[in-house]
Amino acid sequence: MTGSTDQVNALLPEKITKICCIGAGYVGGPTCTVLAQQCPDLVVTIVDVNPQRIAAWNSENLSELPVFEPGLSSIVGECRGRNLFFTTEIDRAIDEAQIVFVSVNTPTKTSGIGSGFAADLRYVEASTRRIASIASTPKIIVEKSTVPCRTAATMRAILEANSKPGISFQILSNPEFLSEGTAVQDLLNPDRVLIGSLATEQGNRAAELLSEVYERWVPKDRVLRTGLWSSELTKLKAANALLAQRISSINAISAICEATGANVDEVAHACGVDRRIGPHFLRASVGFGGSCFQKDILNLVYLSGSLNLPEVAEYWRQVIVMNEFSKARFAKKVVQTLFNTVTAKRLALLGFAFKKDTGDTRESPAITLCRHFRQEGAHIAIYDPKVPHSQILMDLTEPGVADDRKNIEESITICSNIQEACRDAEAVVIATDWDEFCAIDWHDIYQIMRKPAVVFDGRRVVDPRQLREIGFRVHAVGIGPELQDNVWV
Ligand code: UDX
Ligand code: ADP
Repeated sequence: MTGSTDQVNALLPEKITKICCIGAGYVGGPTCTVLAQQCPDLVVTIVDVNPQRIAAWNSENLSELPVFEPGLSSIVGECRGRNLFFTTEIDRAIDEAQIVFVSVNTPTKTSGIGSGFAADLRYVEASTRRIASIASTPKIIVEKSTVPCRTAATMRAILEANSKPGISFQILSNPEFLSEGTAVQDLLNPDRVLIGSLATEQGNRAAELLSEVYERWVPKDRVLRTGLWSSELTKLKAANALLAQRISSINAISAICEATGANVDEVAHACGVDRRIGPHFLRASVGFGGSCFQKDILNLVYLSGSLNLPEVAEYWRQVIVMNEFSKARFAKKVVQTLFNTVTAKRLALLGFAFKKDTGDTRESPAITLCRHFRQEGAHIAIYDPKVPHSQILMDLTEPGVADDRKNIEESITICSNIQEACRDAEAVVIATDWDEFCAIDWHDIYQIMRKPAVVFDGRRVVDPRQLREIGFRVHAVGIGPELQDNVWV
């Protein structure tokens, strides 16, 4: 499409002074908080349909924010009420803004076509309809949520069919690559900011306007510009799928290490020093969790299937199969080691979040472990430094995990510290890599446990030799039998 500069500008906001973010979750909250801090001249308003979530973002007590991220609460404290606002007044915030970020959730569909694989876009669609019906000035709409390739086309169709006469929209894809637990650092110092736009004059100009916002703190050469579909595909499929694939690969190797006497840390290090491979994301674990990896790969499997590429679909599906295998294998190891039964035995589960430094439990491996242990009749004493007790209960009573809330309350105890969880336990199971678990006084813990006391390390946070000297039996993921324990494995 061509046109004079004036024509192009008439279809775009003149100047960016206000940004609205729809969705005050793990992506929208931290992203737009950092944006507000870095752009004090812009007004950033984060809106959500959930009034409790907004109230929590507005809590006087900054330790009660709904998302825990190291360093986040102080930035909220610095900017809130100055140029950062959290509100349920969605319509006003949308209409006043020139740029609207869409950061709503895109869970996996649980029924209908693509159930269990495809992304459920109902929240993206609802927010897009709302933008269309409200907007009285041109706007740049930015997809921040992880969405399937060509979602921008759906958004465009909705906007064009429902907007007020003469109001135009430009849609950009600007996916977020932050990792939970390091979100603030990732946002302040990103490897790249990806902006996908249509190759039209308006599309390019809209991308420039968004780029100018980021360039206030991100070096220009780290702002990558691509087409819309490449940007959507990079985030959802390629980047997350490649990262998850690395973890499943090292976890597959860890199973071989355990069976052969090798040490997965040594193998990962020796592989990672090869510059073509690199050292990151090669930490063997009980399995990966989090809201993105599984969802995105399922989506990739669905996309490949619907493009009539069954071999490609099957290839990526194996990343999930391996992750499920890793979790099940670890749970089985616990049962086998405890003399083939954990019925009525107390297991201390340390860590419930899907990784350290977050209170997020979505797809946490700890949930799967609890399901396995409960099926075996164990009593589980759970401790996590950040996850609220109510969240743990909610996760463990989800359909598919357990259906009987009363029974679950009898078979689990949620504890407030490590000692409480470990007292009278037959075994400690480490499911999250919290720093606190690297500094446990194991002499103390040994005294209060039943004997033989066993530690199952699903995150490689303990030193097996040191624990063995105290008297523990130890199983650490990815460490072979001779290294685990000569006597009893
Ligand atoms: C991921 C992507 O990293 C991020 O770019 C994207 O925006 C969102 O999805 P996140 O899910 O927050 O981020 O956490 P990440 O650090 O990727 O970890 C995901 C899971 O993999 C966690 O359960 C983590 O413990 C596990 N993991 C990670 C491993 O088991 N081994 C590793 O080496 C790295
Ligand atoms: P993510 O990890 O992608 O940020 P979250 O579930 O943490 O996902 O956050 C998404 C947020 O989006 C939730 O707080 C939810 O209430 C909000 N949300 C969903 N749909 C809408 C909507 N139509 N308008 C405003 N907020 C919405």
